[in-house]
Amino acid sequence: MATPLHYGALRLPTRWLLSPLAGFTNLPFRRIVRSLGGLGLATTDLVNARALLSGSEKTAELTATCPEDTPLAVQIFGAEPEIMAEAARQLEGRGIASIDINMGCPVNKVTKTGSGASLMCQRDQTLELVERVVKAVQVPVTVKMRLGWDAQNITAPFFAQAFEQVGVAAIAIHGRTRAQGFSGAVDRQGIRQVVEAVSRIPVIGNGDVRTVADAEQMLRETGCAGVSIGRGALANPWIFRQLQQWEETGRFDPPGDFDARLELLRRQFEYVIELRGPERAVPFFRKMAHWYLKAMRVSAALRHRLQTVQTRGEFHEALQEISDRGPAVGSRTDLPDMHIAVPAGPVEHW
Ligand SMILES: Cc1cc2nc3c(=O)[nH]c(=O)nc-3n(C[C@H](O)[C@H](O)[C@H](O)COP(=O)(O)O)c2cc1C
Repeated sequence: MATPLHYGALRLPTRWLLSPLAGFTNLPFRRIVRSLGGLGLATTDLVNARALLSGSEKTAELTATCPEDTPLAVQIFGAEPEIMAEAARQLEGRGIASIDINMGCPVNKVTKTGSGASLMCQRDQTLELVERVVKAVQVPVTVKMRLGWDAQNITAPFFAQAFEQVGVAAIAIHGRTRAQGFSGAVDRQGIRQVVEAVSRIPVIGNGDVRTVADAEQMLRETGCAGVSIGRGALANPWIFRQLQQWEETGRFDPPGDFDARLELLRRQFEYVIELRGPERAVPFFRKMAHWYLKAMRVSAALRHRLQTVQTRGEFHEALQEISDRGPAVGSRTDLPDMHIAVPAGPVEHW
């Protein structure tokens, strides 16, 4: 049996969660992952609380959802308690199951406004902000953070304990500091200290989980209650189903092969058209197509071709050629593992 996870009164069907990935964890991708099974909860890209309240088109798109897209958390960021609380109220009113506060974003554009990872540098204001959001809604409020600002300021255990006191329902912790960006290894001992700092609420371990074995190691070495997966899900959207199968039977199916991935790519593109219309679908989909084609081991020239198409028709023509040619290495039914790139630059970019 899969072990369910509870965020307060909210029961999540599994303990395998999709981490927010700005630019990727939009409705079309979430629909794809959900259709494959095993997912306990998905979270949106980070959403600017102030922009949400002003009703911006971009935030409407980021928070777009549909009946099968459940349970869903929306991740908000901001530094003003009242704005964050009001954004949470609005989302609760729209039926969102859980609100996640971003305290991990290392990007300067976000931290210089006092939000994202910089919240980990100021105790009183941060606790006040989180408490205001918790008090504003009935739905569970969670926090996603890093271990701290840098190796000299490991504040996550302190905050986890304090957040539990003010009613936060769960903590997700990426086992790196802000200063690390995406470099170095994930510090599972650091995650363990966060697990040990709380008494009741679940802590979700995050960082560099790409396989069932990685997830098993994360659970074993940290004692975390669940695992959230970001880039690993871009490379292998079947990972949640694999984890669920592993938990239930000790075995799991391999991820989809070349043709199964191509079918997912096509379907996700159709979902993007539903969301944005055919004109705006092609540029929007480029980043995601890149991940699919890398995992499908498509040649660099054909990947480049898909990156330069302009229309829906050209998109499908390029896909047809990709389908005809197959992978550049391995075979259609046996694709070698891909290397998962980390975002360039330590902290200025994701
Ligand atoms: C492209 C990209 C975008 C991200 N966007 C967000 C975000 O919007 N909010 C957030 O809390 N974390 C964000 N993250 C961090 C991930 O949620 C996650 O903590 C990190 O990638 C480590 O997990 P992974 O190794 O499973 O990818 C982002 C990471 C990447 C690579």
